[in-house]
Amino acid sequence: MSSNAAIAIRSKGFAKTLRKDRWWLYPALVLFGLTSFLVYGFWSAWQADFYWYSAGQEGFGGYLAPFYSPLLFIKEGVEGAAPMAHAIFGSWPEGWPSWLPPSPSLLILAVPGIFRFTCYYYRKAYYRAFTGTPPACAVGALPRKRKSGYKGETGLMLVQNIHRITMYFALMYIIVFFYDAYLSFFRAGELGLGVGSILLLGNPILLTCYTFGCHSIRHLVSGSRDCYSCSMNGKIAHKNGKIVGWLNQRHELFAWLSLIWIVVADFYIRMVSMGYITDLNTWV
Ligand code: FES
Repeated sequence: MSSNAAIAIRSKGFAKTLRKDRWWLYPALVLFGLTSFLVYGFWSAWQADFYWYSAGQEGFGGYLAPFYSPLLFIKEGVEGAAPMAHAIFGSWPEGWPSWLPPSPSLLILAVPGIFRFTCYYYRKAYYRAFTGTPPACAVGALPRKRKSGYKGETGLMLVQNIHRITMYFALMYIIVFFYDAYLSFFRAGELGLGVGSILLLGNPILLTCYTFGCHSIRHLVSGSRDCYSCSMNGKIAHKNGKIVGWLNQRHELFAWLSLIWIVVADFYIRMVSMGYITDLNTWV
């Protein structure tokens, strides 16, 4: 279909198209997936309890729900809270607003949230699914007041550039999650393995695959070069670029896998901590 034909179809009205395939399925699934993630994430962060499990045993090791990691502060006396030794800055700060639950999760979700929100893949997905601009290729978009062409990196697009900065913080989260995974292979200092350990190890692995497929990282490791073969640095950049490029081609896949996995891991640890699920492991 020529681009003129596509424009003509789009201008006929929202969701109008000559396409015969089920083009609406993808934006519908994205709408469902992202809405479910937001609802669960908000609910989990609001709970402020049952984010830790170590079978009541003290000492090194335990499961920490990923939505609560890293633990900056810990409120004492909360059911299912991690031991105070896991708090980076100690006990919960005074003066916390009474209408907000003392949830460590509320302190740390913004950065990974912004990182995902400004991701090039997610932008495409939610522009289509939530704002219908347009909902799919060669499908009529929701009418907009402003009849203007592409404005380049202005307005919301300008804010989206924060992605390049949050990318550095996302890398730090991966290190923290790998440490949480390491922690999950111990219970009271004894090495072992549980379903929670596998879930907590899968989380940073998938996040690594997602984050290292980031367009910003691709530019960082192999962009801004005129010649790859002219120097050793260029050759290394080319090699690294190929690895990142491989992940970048699968960015959508890892975006969804890592998103679903972190929810499953968080929910599982919450359920184990509350006593609704018995963790299968080698310690009992
Ligand atoms: S483009 Fe998706 S994480 Fe950077």
